[in-house]
Amino acid sequence: MRLRNVNIATLVAVLLSGACAYAQFPGMQQAKHYAWSDKSLSPDARADLVIKEMTLDEKILLLHGGGLGMMSTGPSESNGGAGYTRSIPRLGIPAIQMADSAYGVTLGAMKGRYSTALPNNLGAASAWDTESAYEYGQLIGRELRNQGYNMSLGGGVNLTREPRNGRTFEYQGEDPLLAGTLDGWVEKGVQSQHVIGDLKHYAMNDQESGRDAVNVHADKRSMRETDLRAFEIALGISDAGGVMCSYNRVNGTYACENSYLLTDVLKKDFNFKGFVVSDWGATHSDAKASHAGLDMEQPGDFFFGENLKKAVQSGSVSEAEINEHVHRILRTMFANGLFDYPTKTEVPDVDRGYAVAQKIAENSIVLLKNGHNVLPLTGVRTVAVIGGHADVGVLSGGGSAQVSAPGGSPVPPPPAKDMMSMFIHPQWMPSSPLRALKSNLAGAQVTYDSGDDVAAAVAAAKKADVAIVFAYQWETESQDLPTLDLAPEQNKLIEAVAAANSKTIVVLETGSPATMPWIDKVAGVVEAWYPGIRGGEAIANVLTGAVNPTGKLAITFPRSDADLPHPTLVLPPPSSKPDYSHMKSIDDFMKVAAKGLPPFDIAYDEGLKVGYKWYDAEKKPALFPFGFGLSYTTYAYSGLSVTAGETTKVSFTVKNTGKRAGTEIAQVYASLPDSAGEPPRRLIGWARAELAPGESKQVSVDVSRDRLTVYDEASNSWKLVPGKYVILAGSSSRDLPLQQTVSF
Ligand code: GLC
Repeated sequence: MRLRNVNIATLVAVLLSGACAYAQFPGMQQAKHYAWSDKSLSPDARADLVIKEMTLDEKILLLHGGGLGMMSTGPSESNGGAGYTRSIPRLGIPAIQMADSAYGVTLGAMKGRYSTALPNNLGAASAWDTESAYEYGQLIGRELRNQGYNMSLGGGVNLTREPRNGRTFEYQGEDPLLAGTLDGWVEKGVQSQHVIGDLKHYAMNDQESGRDAVNVHADKRSMRETDLRAFEIALGISDAGGVMCSYNRVNGTYACENSYLLTDVLKKDFNFKGFVVSDWGATHSDAKASHAGLDMEQPGDFFFGENLKKAVQSGSVSEAEINEHVHRILRTMFANGLFDYPTKTEVPDVDRGYAVAQKIAENSIVLLKNGHNVLPLTGVRTVAVIGGHADVGVLSGGGSAQVSAPGGSPVPPPPAKDMMSMFIHPQWMPSSPLRALKSNLAGAQVTYDSGDDVAAAVAAAKKADVAIVFAYQWETESQDLPTLDLAPEQNKLIEAVAAANSKTIVVLETGSPATMPWIDKVAGVVEAWYPGIRGGEAIANVLTGAVNPTGKLAITFPRSDADLPHPTLVLPPPSSKPDYSHMKSIDDFMKVAAKGLPPFDIAYDEGLKVGYKWYDAEKKPALFPFGFGLSYTTYAYSGLSVTAGETTKVSFTVKNTGKRAGTEIAQVYASLPDSAGEPPRRLIGWARAELAPGESKQVSVDVSRDRLTVYDEASNSWKLVPGKYVILAGSSSRDLPLQQTVSF
């Protein structure tokens, strides 16, 4: 192509627009061909070819980060995400550009980048939908690539042992089968976009308070059948390339230098082929961590830089061990297309993101109470919307998962009380439930009151046919909730409004379960979680009946903190708290982390009894049980048939006995023989059944043998205990009308 009569300015504009990102102008630098460019070779073979050419320095360079990417000021390869590894141009090795991406690509604000804020992870888990989980991951993978990233730091799957955990919003609930399955499909979706997926935080990192000092005590069987089981299932589905080891100690040893967790379980038993990356500042040694199975330190090189090189040169770490770390990283890069499909910076597809986010939000909202069929809102003339900043937005989860609100949070942050709260504060997504309700209820008068003045709110409620109070509980990484109770002023507002209007509905925007002292005084309750960039529209569609709610709880709502396995949150003593008083830079912060802290102990004595298993075993009532969720229609269960075998076939009929089409999430549980020493019931499968009014469907759930076994520590194997098994089917963990006994 001759550059005749082409206006240079036009050419520059076209070039800058990326419109010709793929045009190959003659003489343009072609990618150099290496022996490992041969795509017909396996990722492992390609990795081995590279390693043969690498110097020790180059190998070490791959085993640590280049610093806190988003904070780097000097020249760096960082793409502005949480971390990265440097490229090695001599060998055509690209940088690994990592970004947090739990419910969307984070930190966009720092580079003026937009990304879709999906519903939070626990919210999305309430859809019990592997297809939408995959779609969730695909969107994250697409938008990571759009911004030039090729590794996700998402995939949090720590089970909810402690629902006050500030990152409960970011995880997948309390059951290992449900959490592991959904997280697996999310990360499979991420990797479908040539981006390395990730599972975190491995392991037993089940609270934020003192996370880098806590020493978790748990027996191996309990870990293998709960938290580690979730990782195992997620890994089996996703083949995730990264596993992030966590800050805490487990049975006395930091997770990132814990050879039982990293090598015996993850790499040997789970056959994990990818690489273990430390949480940020969670590396605490060079040789010990390397021997234990840590492959990469992030974000910096306190241990896996010069120190590790010296360890090799002194002989305390063999080069063969270094090669094993490098091999895992390179083969993961090949397996996920980082060499063959370099990222291309593009504008995200905003409309597509809106559509995915709204659909998942609509399927995640859980209808908890619907007295006198107060919902859906049909035929109402006046509606009073009160509180929760419902006029301007919906809440989102904080910390490293925080997706930046486009245009900034419509609710300004409270005054910063310390350095942490300068960075970590509530952010709202600009999606207004009020605006959406007005649009859906065109004929009605829909008013708004902030709820700041209870008397004014009560007056508004009195004048309306229906009052809708929005209540919220913000949570974030780095801090736990002091309680599952909502703020006193929110409970007071709800009580006052309910006293003024018998048709009061509460819409909750929470990241964890919330207690509800007013539950008997309100007509309706909807849990909307942190519903994402189209959360207002999703909430309005459910409240007005445009969408029939299908969500079911992936986490138990207890009556109060007193019913929890640990009624009082275990907090770090002063001696286990980091001293940031001398901190002058973010690097100082990382140095404090690297130094480590004196431990304090938490004993997870509840063992196998995580979530609903605790309440079942302790015979405690729940406010709302695991698996619970109402619909605008009703369902009936009948005709259970169970055929025991290598794969146990469970089938039954679900009938829509109401007047509206709906989707029922039918669940299957098993009670193992008493000799198995297990909690009363465990989830062993589920199915989504879409049913027209009056329609019946036969639902079949195949239960693989591994869902019925128990972990035997002595033989390090899973065993099917002989005896009688009760198979149960129904609409929640506490509503199981069908049951049949089979023997194995
Ligand atoms: C944080 C989080 C982890 C995150 C990482 C990078 O401390 O624990 O989830 O991926 O650092 O931001």
